[in-house]
Amino acid sequence: MSKITVLAGGLLMALSVSAYADERMKVAAGEEVFKRCHACHSADPSKNTFGPSLTGVVGRKAASLPRFNYSAALRDSGVVWTEANLRKWVENNDAFVPGTRMRHVAITDPAEQDYLIAYLKSLK
Ligand code: HEC
Repeated sequence: MSKITVLAGGLLMALSVSAYADERMKVAAGEEVFKRCHACHSADPSKNTFGPSLTGVVGRKAASLPRFNYSAALRDSGVVWTEANLRKWVENNDAFVPGTRMRHVAITDPAEQDYLIAYLKSLK
């Protein structure tokens, strides 16, 4: 192996380690933001509490958990929880889906939205 190869390999490893650390930091920050949701949303996949479980929510169709009594508004919304839609939801949920049963939340800071989404993605 040439010196260049070793150097490049080392650099690549350092980069991926730092990307991993960055993601871990976002998830940890998101867990803090999620404290504003926790009263109603359990992070336990088997649990719906006052709100539906959010485990696996990123990419899921809105109002699609079988054992949660959603509002008609959310059931009929046709929304899929893409990252973009999750941002709109946490920024102003009752404007995004008028008639939703979820109390208004206003996570308007894009960085906080980033953290929250990283945290939601980490829920398995
Ligand atoms: C006061 C209780 C409450 C709080 C606080 C709350 N939620 Fe909710 N959430 C609900 C309820 C109730 C629903 C179901 C709404 C409906 O059926 O219209 C819901 C639905 C959702 C959904 C749609 C899930 C699905 O299966 O379609 C998402 C995503 C969500 N909430 C995210 C959040 C996030 C993120 C926060 C924190 C920033 C939060 N919620 C704070 C009560 C709450």
